[in-house]
Amino acid sequence: MATGGAGYIGSLATSAGAAHILCTGGAGYIGSHTCVKLVEAGFKVSIMDNLLNSNKRVMERLKELTGKDIPLFEVDMCVADDVNKLFAEQKFDGVIHFAGLKAVGESVAKPIWYYENNITGTINILKAMASSGTNCIVFSSSATVYKPCEDPLDEEKPTGCSNPYGWTKYMIEQILIDAQKADASLGVSILRYFNPVGAHSSGRIGEAPSGYPNNLMPFIQQVAVGRREALSVFGTDYSTKDGSGVRDYIHVEDLAEGHVAALKRILELKTGTIIHNLGSGNGVSVLEMVKAFEESSGKPIPIKLADRRPGDLAVVVANAGKANKELNWETKRSLKDMTDSVWKWVSSHPFGYDDPPPEESLRKESGFSQTLRRGSVEVGFSQTLRKESGFS
Ligand code: NAD
Ligand code: WQD
Repeated sequence: MATGGAGYIGSLATSAGAAHILCTGGAGYIGSHTCVKLVEAGFKVSIMDNLLNSNKRVMERLKELTGKDIPLFEVDMCVADDVNKLFAEQKFDGVIHFAGLKAVGESVAKPIWYYENNITGTINILKAMASSGTNCIVFSSSATVYKPCEDPLDEEKPTGCSNPYGWTKYMIEQILIDAQKADASLGVSILRYFNPVGAHSSGRIGEAPSGYPNNLMPFIQQVAVGRREALSVFGTDYSTKDGSGVRDYIHVEDLAEGHVAALKRILELKTGTIIHNLGSGNGVSVLEMVKAFEESSGKPIPIKLADRRPGDLAVVVANAGKANKELNWETKRSLKDMTDSVWKWVSSHPFGYDDPPPEESLRKESGFSQTLRRGSVEVGFSQTLRKESGFS
């Protein structure tokens, strides 16, 4: 594992000091964890975020974890004038571009919003980079750009998407590749993440989805703290080890270190486009994840066996060999590290960075008839659906 290491920055330092990196969307889940690793690696960091899906309180936590006052610029990347002004006023040596809308289902319902936000926003950033002389960008792409395939996915596998969110990632990748072809002074790193989960080992920052959680881990964490009654397991008849879907979960701290490694690489190369998968290469089933979470939390996670979710594959796993080799990076945290860290975060922050809502809305949210104790995670279940379902 060759991330971190403040000494390295010496070679990348500018006349003004450490290289200055703008994290668009840096107040969000993956961005906030990456900001911590960037500061630890010796970079100067700023955040540009419109807080559409994040909470300003994360900034206090970043100060607590890094000891630095990371500036937050509350700018909407779709407002070109504001983006240009920011880039003209600050001197950024590179951008890590996390900002974007990311919910697959929502993108199907509101495609124009997704295309406008993610693509217009990216074009505004690229134009501001060009006019201010910022020559390096690392982009948050996704395994969703691969055509359905149940073999381990390497970067040569065919691409093609099935929903507007995925197409925004696919199109942005193409825009970045074309922009780099036309401008040799630009360096582009595209990172295709698999399934990010986990929280900072301190339990002070973590994933705090607003609205209904669509992904597995946010749903499990809300069941664990009594905000949801039970997890629906989407599909139990796949040809997998236990019939449930298998994914490549990557600890968000490993993912964050992957960004530092990719940023260093593209700053060194100074030109070209590099594409890497960030995953562990290990498949974990839904039921294995539930069991691991129960062990970390000591709480039963009631489950309901449900139909397959349309569009889901049985298995999605990375071949991360290219990143291991070229970025000198690999995952080092276990499934237990993922579930332990999520429990540490969610047991102390059952509502993320928000204050707990009034009890009445809690009851409505969970559908429970019993009274939930506000601010407490000690919510018991009278039965587990696990037993009903026969799964042990
Ligand atoms: P997140 O929603 O927590 O963070 C995204 C941030 O972007 C938020 O803070 C949001 O406020 C900000 N943002 C959105 N639109 C903006 C705009 N117009 N102007 C300024 N800021 C804006 O999401 P995340 O999970 O941290 O994901 C970060 C990136 O990684 C996204 O691009 C996402 O598509 C990509 N990604 C995420 C996953 C995942 O499972 N979490 C997987 C693959 C790729
Ligand atoms: C994981 C597994 C579900 C919820 C999504 C996006 C992808 C990328 C990562 C951004 C599957 C099962 C889930 C639940 C369940 N995001 N599941 N009950 O679908 O692999 O990938 O997030 O780029 O684009 O599509 O992740 O967490 O939704 O599902 O049984 O309530 O958990 O069926 O097998 P997915 P996920």
